[in-house]
Amino acid sequence: MSENVKIPEQSSPPEPPDALLKVEGLVKHFPIRKGLLRRETGAVQAVDGLTFDVRPGETLGVVGESGCGKSTMGRLITRLLEPTGGKIEFQGHDITHLGVGAMRPLRRDVQMIFQDPYSSLNPRHTIGTIVSAPFRLQGITPEGGVKKEVQQLLELVGLNPEHYNRYPHEFSGGQRQRIGIARALALKPKLVVADEPVSALDVSIQAQVVNLLDDLQDELGLTYVIIAHDLSVIRHVSDRIAVMYLGKIVELADRASLYESPMHPYTKALLSAVPIPDPRRRGVRSERILLTGDVPSPISPPSGCRFHTRCWKATELCKEQEPPLIALAAGRQVACHHPENAADQAPGDPAPASAGEAAGSAPGPSGEAAGSAPESEGGAGK
Ligand SMILES: Nc1ncnc2c1ncn2[C@@H]1O[C@H](COP(=O)(O)OP(=O)(O)OP(=O)(O)O)[C@@H](O)[C@H]1O
Ligand code: SF4
Ligand SMILES: [Mg+2]
Repeated sequence: MSENVKIPEQSSPPEPPDALLKVEGLVKHFPIRKGLLRRETGAVQAVDGLTFDVRPGETLGVVGESGCGKSTMGRLITRLLEPTGGKIEFQGHDITHLGVGAMRPLRRDVQMIFQDPYSSLNPRHTIGTIVSAPFRLQGITPEGGVKKEVQQLLELVGLNPEHYNRYPHEFSGGQRQRIGIARALALKPKLVVADEPVSALDVSIQAQVVNLLDDLQDELGLTYVIIAHDLSVIRHVSDRIAVMYLGKIVELADRASLYESPMHPYTKALLSAVPIPDPRRRGVRSERILLTGDVPSPISPPSGCRFHTRCWKATELCKEQEPPLIALAAGRQVACHHPENAADQAPGDPAPASAGEAAGSAPGPSGEAAGSAPESEGGAGK
């Protein structure tokens, strides 16, 4: 059975020549220090070798369970964090280790939208002061003056420009997130990294903000990296999707192929927990995959494939050898020794464990109770 599966030869994915952002082998390990001497006793391997690119005008969605390194990745590519290893290129320029001064001109082109619209706005500053901050920091006076420009930005994100002198507490969560978006767009960036931009908002408001991001992308020609744990948000906004597990990308594919035929077992398990609103499938019971075991600790991730402690298809090979992220089809990269929906899928490969017939995989090293159902992942473990 699985032993007969042909392992595809390692090949580097084709590189589009015009990538806006190119990331190669990106690593971030947070050292763990203990004792009086603060000796380094280990490291949290938050991001451990990411390779991907972001093309101009596209939206790359990034999804994965809580703690898999999504925010760390976002902060690395916007250079709010210093990488431990790897390379980041923006428009062909190596920005991996640029200092604060050298990064300043680049700050205009790369902006970040944060998750929490409550804590990301200074309560003592007016909206005018908040949205105009990027101009002050960059020493730029826009044509027509700062006030006029800020009012135009407020209008662009659907806020009343007359509210220029109001304070953040006078706005609702959705409106505050719009203020955060206006601030991020002030300098007309090329790349916007949005870390969970709607997860702190009421469901009824989420769609409005997602649609606003969509409209702004068309209007301003923006490129997005959108991090979200909600697979329906990711499905709505993304052109391509990167699925992360324990600091690694396990599958990277365009939206349609990922949702129609996921190849990595982890992607398949994540998607099985999300109801797909498709009238043609009304009444059809879709198979739910129950993942057992906790997410292992990023301090001592499992050997070989990091997903092997929870994967129903795991073999000895999976425990011993790490599967590289390779191109298995056009525009499709997967890191798995026994991928799903693959031409060389062995007929005898084990079927996924459906909800109710849990596969007995080992609990995570944290030793907590096993049996995390995919519900927590569709909702992203929050
Ligand atoms: N400054 C830090 N120091 C030490 N460890 C950190 C630091 N920041 C993040 N980590 C750890 O790195 C791992 C990845 O964290 P990260 O915040 O990137 O995950 P995430 O995918 O964004 O999770 P969530 O969905 O909960 O936001 C976690 O184990 C986290 O505890
Ligand atoms: S490499 Fe093995 S353990 Fe990892 S996802 Fe693939 S089948 Fe599962
Ligand atoms: Mg996060």
